[in-house]
Amino acid sequence: MAEFSQRLIQWQQLHGRHSLPWQNTQDPYAIWVSEIMLQQTQVVAVIPYYQRFMSRFPDVASLAQADEDEVLRHWSGLGYYSRARNLHTAALAIMQQYQGEFPQTHEKINALPGIGRSTASAITVFAYGQTQTILDGNVKRVLTRCFGIEGWPSQPAVEKRLWKLAESLLPKADIQCYTQGLMDLGATLCTRSKPQCDKCPVRENCVARKKSRITQLPTPKQRKIIPEREIVMLILLAANEILLEKRPPSGIWGGLWSLPEVAMGEDVQLVARQRLGLETKLLPTLPIVTHTFTHFRLRITPQPLKMLKMRPEVRQSGLVWLDKEDAIDAALPAPIRKILLGIAAN
Ligand code: ADE
Repeated sequence: MAEFSQRLIQWQQLHGRHSLPWQNTQDPYAIWVSEIMLQQTQVVAVIPYYQRFMSRFPDVASLAQADEDEVLRHWSGLGYYSRARNLHTAALAIMQQYQGEFPQTHEKINALPGIGRSTASAITVFAYGQTQTILDGNVKRVLTRCFGIEGWPSQPAVEKRLWKLAESLLPKADIQCYTQGLMDLGATLCTRSKPQCDKCPVRENCVARKKSRITQLPTPKQRKIIPEREIVMLILLAANEILLEKRPPSGIWGGLWSLPEVAMGEDVQLVARQRLGLETKLLPTLPIVTHTFTHFRLRITPQPLKMLKMRPEVRQSGLVWLDKEDAIDAALPAPIRKILLGIAAN
C-alpha cells in the first residue's frame, strides 16, 4: 500500500499540477471556494470564474455581506447553482458561529452547507496539512481501476468499500502532494476515455490494466431513461429592451433571473395579458434549446412577442425590463443566456 502512495507522490512532484490559481495558498477560504467550484466543473472552466469570484469576494466577510443575487451573478453559467447559494449561506454561518474565522476541524467544516466528507477533507489537507481522505469522482475512477473494484462507485456498498480503501492508502507524510497527485492522476492520465496508461505511475500494479478491463471500470450506473419536460419561454421585446423574471427561490435555477416560463400549449398572449399586463403581437418561435439536468431534460421553445401596450396597474416585483446587452450580464442560467445571445445578434 505504501508503494501506491510513494509512487503517486513522486509522480505528482515531477508531473503534477503546481500552479493552478488556488494552489500555493494556505487560505482556507480560497481553497474552499475552489473546491466547491471544482465539485462538478472541470479546471479549465473554473479558472476564470474563480478569479472573478475571488476578486469580488476576497474573504468570508465580503461574501457574507453580499446579496445572494450578486453571488449568483458571479456563478452564472457554471451551473448547479445550489453550490453558490450554499456558499453564501455557509459564509453567513461562519460569521455567526465562528466570528468570521474559518473553522479548522474536519467535523466543523463538514457540517457547513454544501460541504461533504471529501470536500471537507480537501480543505483540511490543503489549508491545514491534516491527514484526511478524499473520494471524488476522479479518485473513484483511479481506485476502481487500480484495485479492480466492480460495481457502480456511488452505490452505497461500493462507496463504503472505496472509502475504506482510500483510508488505507494514506501516506504517513506529504499528504498535500499525495492528495493533489490523486486528483491530478484522475484528471490528466486516468481519464474516463483514452487513459494514458503508458505514463501512469501505478501502471504495474493496476488491476484494470492487467486484466484488460480499463474500458469496463469504473462500472457505469444502470442507465435510466431520463424524462423530458417541454416549456415555452417568453421573449418580451420592447424597443431594445427585454423582460426578465426572477425565478422562485427553490426549484430549478432558484433565485436566478430568467424569461417568463409558460407551460407547453398555453395561450402565450393570454398569459402575457393576464400575468404580465402586456398586450402583445406574436412573432415566429425560435429553434428549441435543450438543457440536460441530472434528473430530466428540458426542451425550451423560445417565443418572441412584441410588446404593444403595458397595463400600468399590473406591477409586480421580480420583473425587470433591461436593455438586451445588460440582460446578458444578469444572473442567468446558461441556456437562457444562449437564447438571449441569439436575439442580441439579430
Ligand atoms: N478537483 C477538485 N479539487 C481540485 C484541486 N484542488 N485541484 C485540481 N482539481 C481539483
